[in-house]
Amino acid sequence: MTAIVVIGAQWGDEGKGKIVDLVAERADLVVRYGGGANAGHTLKVNGQKVVTHLLPSGVLHPATRCVLGAGMVIDPKVLIEEIADLEGRGLSVRPRLLVSGRAHATLPFQAAIDRAANAGPRAIGTTGRGIGPTYSDKSARVGVRLCDLVSPSRARAAIEALIDAYKPRARAAGAPEPSVEEALAFIEPLVAQIAPLLGDASLTVDRALKAKLRVVFEGAQGTLLDLDHGTYPFVTSSNTVAGGACTGTGIGPTRIDAVFGITKAYCTRVGHGPFPTELVGAAGDSLREAGEEYGATTGRPRRCGWIDLPALRYAARVNGLTALAVTKLDILSGYEEIPVCTKYRVDGVETEELPVDDLDRAEPVYEKFAGWKEPLSAARTLLDLPAAAREYISMIEQRVEVPIAMVSVGAERTETIVLGDAFSYVR
Ligand code: IMP
Repeated sequence: MTAIVVIGAQWGDEGKGKIVDLVAERADLVVRYGGGANAGHTLKVNGQKVVTHLLPSGVLHPATRCVLGAGMVIDPKVLIEEIADLEGRGLSVRPRLLVSGRAHATLPFQAAIDRAANAGPRAIGTTGRGIGPTYSDKSARVGVRLCDLVSPSRARAAIEALIDAYKPRARAAGAPEPSVEEALAFIEPLVAQIAPLLGDASLTVDRALKAKLRVVFEGAQGTLLDLDHGTYPFVTSSNTVAGGACTGTGIGPTRIDAVFGITKAYCTRVGHGPFPTELVGAAGDSLREAGEEYGATTGRPRRCGWIDLPALRYAARVNGLTALAVTKLDILSGYEEIPVCTKYRVDGVETEELPVDDLDRAEPVYEKFAGWKEPLSAARTLLDLPAAAREYISMIEQRVEVPIAMVSVGAERTETIVLGDAFSYVR
């Protein structure tokens, strides 16, 4: 068994970084397949905190090769800055990084239009990193790929075509038109550094799989932010679900052996959009403070609420989860009882399924489970947990019908209860 996809089973920020980091210890290759600099991984390098947005968490392991797939949108400046930052801290990155030439480049005016839309009446609350515009330009077939940037004539032609598409929009908005010369000046100092990193991600991953190397596909964001299966329009612009690993890398679904979903023991969301179990006011504030729930990319406070089992079952379905990791169980210590959303009431009818049109119509139906007082961070086996915490974990496992392979009880790598080898939960 060699190929495992690791995805967020909620709205992102489930703690994928730590789990991928643990799984990647035994991986030869870590592949990112979607999204761009909207993601944020908080990593520790030689005891110092570093946040990466494009490079996968696996970059921390010096022997692991990293691949950025064709499904990603890449701000070339952010990529070069991240590499320089990690290399400045003594971690060699370039020799073990391959970036798909097919990935699309995010240029400054695409990020600017994303930020401008955030201020408008139909704001999604995006990260402002140009993700939506870059993906929509790609779908409209006017995008600029990284491989286009390496030849000056191709770069000029591709940027001219993209900017032509922007001119009517800029005129309609009364905004200045983006400038071809400015865009070329932006990429010019970056091209020499980007060019040696470019290659064929599909071929690289295919060769690794044929050689029976262990490959981890690292999802970004979370299931409910998926463009097709999330809470549209309050979603990101890529396929965050496990299927995105195939399209975003260029390998077939028959190559994937396992899909590992990560869920918090509760729920968070950043940005706008429906969130049935959201806690507003003091209850939400105390969960946010206990869990230090602030966005790694934007620093925004995350909205917090109780775990949502219909949404988790949905994630199990749309991703084909073979195992689950539950993170931040320690944050729930101290509650007398813990409400768990087990169903929704939609139009007066109880259901365990998400409405297709708008999750805002789903009113949560809660069951209460006994809480526990003890801190959990020293637990290394299920038996080290108080009975109520054990009960909480087995309740999730039974109701979502997916085996739990890991429980995280603290931010440190060691603060983890490992119940099985992530690579062994095969389909
Ligand atoms: P965009 O991906 O920047 O276009 O933002 C679209 C939505 O996805 C917004 O609600 C963002 O807050 C959310 N989002 C994007 N990336 C992440 C992430 O890595 N974690 C959590 N939410 C994210």
